[in-house]
Amino acid sequence: MNVYDGWRIAAMLNAHGLHQTTDVADADIIILNTCAVRAKATDKVYSALGRIRLAKKPNALMGIVGCVARESGADAFKRVPDLNFVLGPQSYHKLPEILNDPDTRLFNIELSGLEKFDEMPKLEKSPLVTYVPIQEGCNHCCTYCIVPYTRGREISRSFADCVRDTEMAAKTGAVEICFLGQNVNGYKYTDENGKIYRLSDLIRAAAKIDTVKRIRFTSSYPTEMTDDLIEMFAQEPKLLPFLNMPIQSGSPDVLKRMNRPYDLEQYLGIVKKLKAARPDIQISSDFIVGFPGETDDDFEQTLQIARTVKYINSYSFKYSPRPHTSAAIMQDQIPENIKSKRLAILDAELNEIQRAFNESCVGKTLPCLCEGVDKTGRHLVYRTPYMQQCIVACPAGDAPQICNIEITAANKASLRGKITD
Ligand code: 5AD
Ligand code: SF4
Repeated sequence: MNVYDGWRIAAMLNAHGLHQTTDVADADIIILNTCAVRAKATDKVYSALGRIRLAKKPNALMGIVGCVARESGADAFKRVPDLNFVLGPQSYHKLPEILNDPDTRLFNIELSGLEKFDEMPKLEKSPLVTYVPIQEGCNHCCTYCIVPYTRGREISRSFADCVRDTEMAAKTGAVEICFLGQNVNGYKYTDENGKIYRLSDLIRAAAKIDTVKRIRFTSSYPTEMTDDLIEMFAQEPKLLPFLNMPIQSGSPDVLKRMNRPYDLEQYLGIVKKLKAARPDIQISSDFIVGFPGETDDDFEQTLQIARTVKYINSYSFKYSPRPHTSAAIMQDQIPENIKSKRLAILDAELNEIQRAFNESCVGKTLPCLCEGVDKTGRHLVYRTPYMQQCIVACPAGDAPQICNIEITAANKASLRGKITD
């Protein structure tokens, strides 16, 4: 979502006559679009600000937008007195106000809802893979997570707006649409006539657009994988056979303390239904290790579930206590060295599973999307339906945007292949 917000912020400032630079010393305005999900991300923002204030032009404006702005609030100005603006994730659209009056301090961390989606300009040219945000915020209140505080309660955008943005993205160059939301499969919009729209309706609408060739969505909450959505994997070939459905932990006790009220049978039941709908579907997960009170046995259960589901591509994190969350004040916080040890063990396991999956792809032919040329300029980088990177020698003529690629080799990180049509 931050990548997408970054594009829109850049487009918004373009409309005010500014253009993008990657050189801090050259910039007239420096914006850090921030994530607060773990303490490390927040710390990085403040250390980057320390470096930037020394490198920037004396009159350049500097500020933070996004979740750290909301997390820190007005304290951000105390920590870094020369900040010019602090805008929360739902106030990006107010950024140009600082251009009108560079001598004020712009501060807004309110959760105003969906206003920003309408006020920010649409992209004139869309990337091949374009994100379409359809809902923001989260009602789940997992005890470790700062998102319900920084992004607020769940709100779904209107069905008509989502379809319009999808059509616009397709018209301006998108071939793959990724529907976005913190709890994307909780998408639910009721129109004036009481008609309810779900994510499955949006997938169907996107699939009708000829130039849209691939559809995916992220991130999903396990128990919100409703049957209508699972059915989409059977019915809609444009929906990629890949799903990020974080389990976080394999221990029922830990899940309870995380306030994630599903049990493993239920989770595995959903995986089974997904496989029945689309036998080639693969799943990825997020994991948190070292949650307060996590025992060796709890951790062992996490390893076990990873082996059972065979997640092909996962993100794993050490639990990081966050302000405004109840887990931060739980007893039995786990020492850092144990968290690190568990993370290394889990990562090794997940890497092995990923390598085995990548190797199982050798000899198969997969429909892939071209993402561009690699650093050497001699290879093309394609994305498989499972989001694996596949490196291919540049063909003599134009590179096809979407083509079948025979996978010839694999390692943990990527695949190699040759274009077959
Ligand atoms: N500590 C560590 N990881 C966290 N995540 C969310 N909150 C925390 C936290 N306090 C992870 C979860 C989530 C992903 C986006 O970030 O795994 O799925
Ligand atoms: Fe955070 Fe995801 Fe839980 Fe929502 S479902 S509170 S975004 S971890």
